[in-house]
Amino acid sequence: MNASRVRFAVMGTGRVTRRLIADIQSTAGATVTAIASRSADRARWQADCFGIPNAVCGYDELLRRDDFDAVYVALPPSLHHEWTLASCDAGKHVLCEKPLAVNADQVGEMIDAAETRDVRLLDATAWLHHDRTGQFRQWLDPDRTTPLSDAEDFGVSDEPDEEPTEPSFRLGPLRHLSAAVSFRSPFQNGDHRLDPDLGGGCLLDLGWYAAGLIRFAAGRLPQQVYADAVDREGVLTRVSATMQFSNDLTATLSCGFDTATRKWCEIAGEDASIVCDDFTRPWPDKPARSWVHEASGKVHSMVEPTVPTDGAPSVCHQERNMIGEFMRRIRLGRIDEAERQSHEQAWQTQRILDALAESISVGGPVKLAVASVT
Ligand SMILES: NC(=O)c1ccc[n+]([C@@H]2O[C@H](COP(=O)([O-])OP(=O)(O)OC[C@H]3O[C@@H](n4cnc5c(N)ncnc54)[C@H](OP(=O)(O)O)[C@@H]3O)[C@@H](O)[C@H]2O)c1
Repeated sequence: MNASRVRFAVMGTGRVTRRLIADIQSTAGATVTAIASRSADRARWQADCFGIPNAVCGYDELLRRDDFDAVYVALPPSLHHEWTLASCDAGKHVLCEKPLAVNADQVGEMIDAAETRDVRLLDATAWLHHDRTGQFRQWLDPDRTTPLSDAEDFGVSDEPDEEPTEPSFRLGPLRHLSAAVSFRSPFQNGDHRLDPDLGGGCLLDLGWYAAGLIRFAAGRLPQQVYADAVDREGVLTRVSATMQFSNDLTATLSCGFDTATRKWCEIAGEDASIVCDDFTRPWPDKPARSWVHEASGKVHSMVEPTVPTDGAPSVCHQERNMIGEFMRRIRLGRIDEAERQSHEQAWQTQRILDALAESISVGGPVKLAVASVT
């Protein structure tokens, strides 16, 4: 591998590749050298669309080549495990689409395979790499007092006579987490989201984001979950769930294919809560926003650190940040703490989804043991 350039190959020619190929190509130091499809015509068509030099028929055939360093696995969820293992065996780094697999056992095997072959493995969950998520990570420290000098305040304090002080907030101990992710749009014929054999259903497709936000904020697995679902012809189309964690923390999750677009979360501490209505991806042409609600009733409108002027769209590109971080890990040449944390986040997210699926199936609460993949 040229030290300054990481060469990607793409598996699949679906919708997500149309965005992420361009994101890889526009990330400094990254290039796409090959794309593989089950069909030679589709590989050629997609290669021509994006100016990719090599079109390959067959994923196996792709892995026999030596003109790339990393595979971007953009296949339906039930194929992520198989092709990640095969890519690791071929000595390739793997950027794999979400959900990382269809259950936590598969995720564990994928992480083991990457560690055994000493290649990097990252799930393509881009919101985790947004600058705003970095802010959330800091605010989540229960003892941290965060200055509010850049926030726009609105709302009225319930304590009008209070002394003016340097504006700041802290969350205090976490008490409740909520996340809701859904969309309502017509599916194309044969869409993998509606095919249980391909890992379809809203729990894996959208629950990945909501459970991921909850795991990100809690930093651990719940002790017990309870979930309920709307099941249409064997496909989960709406799921709602409650969770109980140690230290008196609770959570609620909602995801579905049959409600308007939602991508919000609330992270509620004793002293303040963070509210965000677009955590998976900022609304188009808007800065990445969030609000801090204080116990006193004051509300502060927060903006991400990289917005140049008030009201300007986000300049943070979460996909390019993610690709850049993946390449940093490749160039480092060994697993580091950031990668271990990514693996834990992905594995525990999938453990939560497994427990929710089990709860739906048994019609009652499911307990989870304390567990870690690292
Ligand atoms: N990160 C994000 O924001 C985001 C957004 C959308 C989707 N995704 C994820 O990306 C993955 C792909 O989603 P997508 O929307 O791009 O799917 P898609 O449009 O259905 O494309 C999937 C591709 O996989 C290949 N494939 C191989 N075996 C297949 C099979 N048995 N059935 C269907 N396709 C098969 C096909 O390419 P060839 O036949 O040409 O090889 C197909 O084009 C999913 O895991 C999804 O959750 C992520």
